Amino acid sequence: MIVPSAALLLTSLASLVAASPALSSRNNGKNTEVFAPSNYSVVDGFFIQSSPTFNATGYDALKDNFGLIDKSPNKWKNFAKAIKKLNDESDELTAYKVIYIARHGEGYHNYAQTFYGTPAWICKWSLLNGDGNMTWGPDATLTPNGIAQAQAVNAAWKIEAKADAPLPQVFYSSPMRRAASTLEITWRDILLQKKSYTPTIKEHYRESIGLHTCDQRSTKTVLSETYPGWNFDASFTEHDQLYNPTYQENGGAQSLRLQQQMNELFSSDDSTYVSITAHSGVINSFFTAVGHKRFSVQTGGVVPVVIKAVGHKSATNTPIVAGLSATAPACV
Ligand SMILES: *[C@@H]1O[C@H](CO)[C@@H](O)[C@H](O)[C@H]1NC(C)=O
Ligand SMILES: *[C@@H]1O[C@H](CO)[C@@H](O)[C@H](O)[C@H]1NC(C)=O
Ligand SMILES: *[C@@H]1O[C@H](CO)[C@@H](O)[C@H](O)[C@H]1NC(C)=O
Repeated sequence: MIVPSAALLLTSLASLVAASPALSSRNNGKNTEVFAPSNYSVVDGFFIQSSPTFNATGYDALKDNFGLIDKSPNKWKNFAKAIKKLNDESDELTAYKVIYIARHGEGYHNYAQTFYGTPAWICKWSLLNGDGNMTWGPDATLTPNGIAQAQAVNAAWKIEAKADAPLPQVFYSSPMRRAASTLEITWRDILLQKKSYTPTIKEHYRESIGLHTCDQRSTKTVLSETYPGWNFDASFTEHDQLYNPTYQENGGAQSLRLQQQMNELFSSDDSTYVSITAHSGVINSFFTAVGHKRFSVQTGGVVPVVIKAVGHKSATNTPIVAGLSATAPACV
């Protein structure tokens, strides 16, 4: 039996609800317009990662102002001014947002995948909760190395904040603990200590749904206890209703999910600067949804993306083909 992955996707559309009320403009003026866009594109020229010729091999954005191309003393002020100008001069069906998308630090599942090798990981170990030594499922947590990676992102943001980098106005997290903990460690003593910056956990920023136990989430109770005070999608259920032990959402279905999540973001949140902490698969699906070149983001990596969103009648996205769910490969 083959289950269309759209089933995994659409059962949970009801959970796409309005985000927490948008915060008033804290960063450099005008917020973005709110509407449901039908076309996304990436504005090239601000960040090195946005270039179609960007080579991610060996590149460390944390040591390079997150990839900002301008290296002048006023680089971040120039950037914020340019983004404000784009929004000020755009019509009511055009909006620009800067998304700081982050990958979680190393989790036990990442460690295990390297330890056992990818073929054995995807045909066997990813389907189990652990190996008697390490536990990675359900809901893998950060390794000590993963915690150190998140601390390094925290240190990098402190440096850029001193240089006037526009900080996020709103924080979104995958419901997986490795992502939420990475967000918490990255931002706790920069912005999260202020009540108005409470993050929101959103079901649809979770990693590829199904098969791998590391991608089965904890209950809402466990998450509320681990991240006290954090907000959830209004329809966030106690138990994980999307995880399926036999089928896994494929890349096309995931890209559609991220496209819908972007539609929700742009239609409900007028923040210009948005932080999202998620996963490698989610980040690549996000790249597809907004027309960014796909590349593999390392654990603990951060990629700033300037997105132009358009809602004109004539604007359309290139259709994304969802395809069918995948089952685990046989071990050879
Ligand atoms: C990307 O960079 C790496 C390391 O510098 C290099 O080995 C590789 O050839 C580059 N790839 C491309 C497509 O330029
Ligand atoms: C147990 O896991 C640790 C990492 O947490 C690893 O360093 C070690 O090699 C593992 N031992 C065995 C016997 O698999
Ligand atoms: C937005 O429209 C442009 C121009 O038609 C197209 O090149 C681009 O692929 C579209 N964006 C997406 C994400 O499909």
